Amino acid sequence: MHQQQDPSTLLTEFFNELTLACQQNKAESLPVLDLACGFGRNGLYLLKQNLPVVFADINPDALAQVEQQANALTKHGQALASYWHQDFELPGSAPLKDKRFSAVVVFRYLHRPLMAQIKEAIIPGGVIVYETFTRAQAEFGRPKNPDFLLEPGELADCFANWHVRHYFEGIVQSKGTKQALARIVAVKPDE
Ligand SMILES: C[S@@+](CC[C@H](N)C(=O)[O-])C[C@H]1O[C@@H](n2cnc3c(N)ncnc32)[C@H](O)[C@@H]1O
Repeated sequence: MHQQQDPSTLLTEFFNELTLACQQNKAESLPVLDLACGFGRNGLYLLKQNLPVVFADINPDALAQVEQQANALTKHGQALASYWHQDFELPGSAPLKDKRFSAVVVFRYLHRPLMAQIKEAIIPGGVIVYETFTRAQAEFGRPKNPDFLLEPGELADCFANWHVRHYFEGIVQSKGTKQALARIVAVKPDE
């Protein structure tokens, strides 16, 4: 079993924004999508706080482990989780088309063609929480492929017309290693 890692502090600090996003659509509480969830450290945190979560990843073993952890929660917690085994990079595909979420959280994953779909899939008043590596990361370690690294200001530009609650771009030091990251928490404006 993969060791469960702590959730991102970005998610825990801005948890209230996600709660509000989930509460606003009273008729139907749309879930939060944990896109490229891996072993689910972030989505599992939300699930434990009783938010509905869709865990999505290409790795079926990771999803199975997330499901095992979710199943250890209360029946209510289990009912709030769903699992989506999906390759988000299939050429010519639009996996998020026609999907709707209260929020999308993406950590340590970038596939640029998905950005427009992610923005579309979030309902007005819904939230994006995105944290991933910037180009400067190549100095410190992986990933080094520019396809997986944000350009300076790219995340801010992408959500320029959203209501930005938090933005950071720079170098962080964690457990003795440096990482170059960009982070955003933003609310989608009403149409
Ligand atoms: C660095 S991990 C981040 C996992 C998690 N978001 C976190 O921060 O702990 C990147 C994740 O992206 C997933 N991934 C990579 N390519 C993918 C694809 N084409 N479709 C869906 N998920 C993918 C991997 O399986 C992996 O779980």
